[in-house]
Amino acid sequence: MDSSSLLARIVARPHPNGVLSVLERHHLGFTAYGSGKAALRDGLESLRETDDDGNVLLPAYLPDGVVEPLFELGLEPRYYRVRQDLGPDLSDVNRRLDAETVAGLSVNYFGFSQPRFDEFGSLLAEYGCYHVDDNAHAPLSVSEGTLLGTRGDLGITSLWKLLSIPDGAVLYRNSDAARAAFEPSSIAGIRGRIDGSDCRFVVKAVATDVLESNAWLRRSTDNLLASRNDTSPVASPSDRYEAGKRPMSRLSARVLERVDARAIRTARRENYRAWHRLLADRDGLDVVRSVLPEGICPQAMPVRTSEPDRLLAALEAAGVSDAHTWPRLADSVRTDPTYATATRLAAEIVAIPIRDRPDRDAFDAALAQSARVGDSPAVERSPSSSP
Ligand SMILES: Cc1ncc(COP(=O)(O)O)c(C=O)c1O
Repeated sequence: MDSSSLLARIVARPHPNGVLSVLERHHLGFTAYGSGKAALRDGLESLRETDDDGNVLLPAYLPDGVVEPLFELGLEPRYYRVRQDLGPDLSDVNRRLDAETVAGLSVNYFGFSQPRFDEFGSLLAEYGCYHVDDNAHAPLSVSEGTLLGTRGDLGITSLWKLLSIPDGAVLYRNSDAARAAFEPSSIAGIRGRIDGSDCRFVVKAVATDVLESNAWLRRSTDNLLASRNDTSPVASPSDRYEAGKRPMSRLSARVLERVDARAIRTARRENYRAWHRLLADRDGLDVVRSVLPEGICPQAMPVRTSEPDRLLAALEAAGVSDAHTWPRLADSVRTDPTYATATRLAAEIVAIPIRDRPDRDAFDAALAQSARVGDSPAVERSPSSSP
């Protein structure tokens, strides 16, 4: 893409269905941040009543970096078990709740609403704890008329995972208690002007062509679920946390106002269906979310397999180079047999980007070349219901 068309994007008029406008229509009380972890930091800081120690319950199936704000605030991360459906093991949650628990966090993985969300919230309410709706993956997903991230007491959403922008996230203050308690810190809000880091992002983006043509829609899963970011050998989780601890870039805010949220959702849904048609009926592969409910804007297609390397190799050979297992777990989870399910899920779930439609012929040829994703060549079975 040449820089003049990039400029055209930046100076274009805000779109009536721009991402930030859509969020505003659903929810008035949100604050912008550079990253989801920064939003989580301010949210948690405002919820805790004293500076004394406290703990926060988190699903064991979670990228290691998400606990960084807790470390900074002196809160104990207390992991709870998840079940095979990625929802919480409620009896384990119950066992871990105590008088020091400030909040419990649930996650709308891959853009889909978390199983047993309401039961989890009720359990927390019994103990007088706050419920944080971690919606990092699902900025535009709406479930039964409600924008994901806007349930529970607080919610966070990562916008930079949706589009090719330098950074961007929001903190939703959902309950009266969370609204009353909230005090934004100096890392809240949108930066005053387009600055040097925005310019560097643009130069790099133009140089690497990520902003080419309609990449505003296409690239959204490139840094899929931020896990490439999270597994980068370059920066430690704490370095990445520190880098995102600032207000949202002005350039991000501009772009977010100028892209059509509905078009993004439509494109994602169509691509998800196409990937589902390709993968759903193959032995050795289990599409983790095979129903695509109305309103959901998927972030990626999660597929479970006991042979992730074979699937990844076939995808790579078919031109999909940025699929990967997800996420990189905290060491304290990986080394504790209590969390065997989360560890297994993290080893076996491959997140496939859905910015493009799959190339069936290329994928089939790649699979035929490698051994099957299982024990013998992958066989297509009779079609099942599509999402
Ligand atoms: C479930 C989940 N929550 C929170 C975050 C943090 O979001 P951010 O990278 O915007 O800080 C991530 C990042 O990947 C995530 O996967």
